Amino acid sequence: MYLVTGATGGLGRRIVRVLRERDQKVRAFVRLTSRYGELENRGADIFIGDLTEERDIHKATQGVDYIISAHGSNEASGGAQALDYRANIELIDCAKACGVKHFVFISVLGCDRGYEDSPVFKAKREVEKYLQNSGLNYTILRPSGFASNLLPLAERVKETGIYLSVGDMKNRTSPVSTDDLAKIAVDSVTLEAATRQIFAVGGPEVLSRGELPRIFGRIFNREPFVINPPLTVFDGVRGILGFVNPDLQKSLGTLRVLLANEFFCTPEEIERLESTFDFKLETLESFVRRYLGA
Ligand SMILES: NC(=O)c1ccc[n+]([C@@H]2O[C@H](COP(=O)([O-])OP(=O)(O)OC[C@H]3O[C@@H](n4cnc5c(N)ncnc54)[C@H](OP(=O)(O)O)[C@@H]3O)[C@@H](O)[C@H]2O)c1
Repeated sequence: MYLVTGATGGLGRRIVRVLRERDQKVRAFVRLTSRYGELENRGADIFIGDLTEERDIHKATQGVDYIISAHGSNEASGGAQALDYRANIELIDCAKACGVKHFVFISVLGCDRGYEDSPVFKAKREVEKYLQNSGLNYTILRPSGFASNLLPLAERVKETGIYLSVGDMKNRTSPVSTDDLAKIAVDSVTLEAATRQIFAVGGPEVLSRGELPRIFGRIFNREPFVINPPLTVFDGVRGILGFVNPDLQKSLGTLRVLLANEFFCTPEEIERLESTFDFKLETLESFVRRYLGA
């Protein structure tokens, strides 16, 4: 039995899909308020709980062989300490107590760079260390940005021609196909070469941010109009928000880190991924064409 947390998220629901396509038993950890109909239809067992509640984590991990931790907090909800840190520590402790055979943790590319401004990056690195010292079999995946998160931006280019990007357009990125990442997460459990390993996970191309609207423009045969405010605009808004909502200002640190820095995989990291998991990673253009039917 696989336990998947974050099962209604962009990545988690794809992980459940891959597992069910392989006829594996899945327990999907979802909130009562989550939209989990698709998971039910795919034949996953639904476990309703809240990852901020220790007793829910204890119950959910009973009788489980494998755990794939794919939940996460976001800027709006905050909660990095409770969700990205505490819930994962609790999951790891329960995994040990229940004799779980393998634990896959979805971390983030760059969490080892010491970005003090980001509660999420800090939490991810702490959890990585805790997992590495837990004695469990594990795989840690450090993805760059998900291609699925770019679909709304691509759609906006399709519909209006407008593309908004904050910060330096020369910064490099390598968006990963969220479907490839789901497959890698699932394969990690059974591949010996992935046991006790950390992988940077990105798409096969290193792209500048400026290339993204050009790719979308090519796909939809439309010249994109790029709006590109500097990072100082974001900082100004964040500063003002700090007067009314200091917690939100703090959690926006993660978005600031993402906007201000480069997140891409080197050719060597891509080569390691493709040879370990034995498949070719999908390009951003192919992913967008597949989802938006272009
Ligand atoms: N997105 C990216 O570009 C990116 C890049 C690198 C790493 N990552 C990491 O990859 C993982 C998956 O990201 P994602 O984009 O797929 O996340 P997402 O779409 O934001 O989904 C987050 C998931 O966590 C669940 N969740 C939130 N609070 C919860 C709680 N209190 N109890 C139970 N479940 C809760 C959400 O459930 P609801 O449906 O109920 O809200 C949802 O299923 C995260 O760990 C993230 O840090 C993401």
